[in-house]
Amino acid sequence: MTFDLLALKPSERYRILASFVTPRPIAWITTQDSEGKLNTAPFSFFNVFGSNPPIVAFAPGNKDRHTPKDTARNIRETGEFIVHMVDEPLGEAMVTTSATLPHGESELDNLPLTTLPSEKIAVPRIAEAPVAFECTEHSTIEIGSNRLVIGIVHFVHIRDGLADEKGYLKHDAFHPLGRMASPDWYTRTSDQFEIPRPD
Ligand SMILES: Cc1cc2nc3c(=O)[nH]c(=O)nc-3n(C[C@H](O)[C@H](O)[C@H](O)COP(=O)(O)O)c2cc1C
Repeated sequence: MTFDLLALKPSERYRILASFVTPRPIAWITTQDSEGKLNTAPFSFFNVFGSNPPIVAFAPGNKDRHTPKDTARNIRETGEFIVHMVDEPLGEAMVTTSATLPHGESELDNLPLTTLPSEKIAVPRIAEAPVAFECTEHSTIEIGSNRLVIGIVHFVHIRDGLADEKGYLKHDAFHPLGRMASPDWYTRTSDQFEIPRPD
């Protein structure tokens, strides 16, 4: 089968791209608006793109042609966000926070989760998340109704037991969820293996 993507409707393109570019990491992102109200949402158009400086990027699509999602709007207002990684016990809560709430209402309000203050930025982080990256906005690129938000990572908080004191991962301890076919499929990462590189 072959598809000419630009000849399809955006929803059809999304279904194909989001189903076959898998598994994807999930960024569970907290932001605050200019009044300090907390917002939380997951984004799987997400990855790390370099370490010098340390950069991550994610892509919140607009609600309509020109209206950004609350996450993107808050980052434009404050320049700050936290990216959390998600493991299996947090999966249901993460999906719950993808609900569309009126601007200013917190998706965390009805969930059994707690927040902790961050080191550098005003946005709090989710205490239960295995990893949290404190980020400032480097830039946001608008391409059609996509936004590509690029962030500089300042602090990283890693749950005790996941890494040694130098930050080396303990492979049998960290099992982030992977996003699979759109809309509702995920994968566990508990069956990992090694392929050594050539010299
Ligand atoms: C696992 C998962 C991944 C998602 N990834 C994205 C994404 O990469 N881009 C996007 O625009 N929406 C994505 N969504 C949908 C947003 O989470 C949803 O639109 C949310 O309401 C946005 O919240 P906000 O308006 O508070 O920013 C995803 C949803 C789920 C459950």
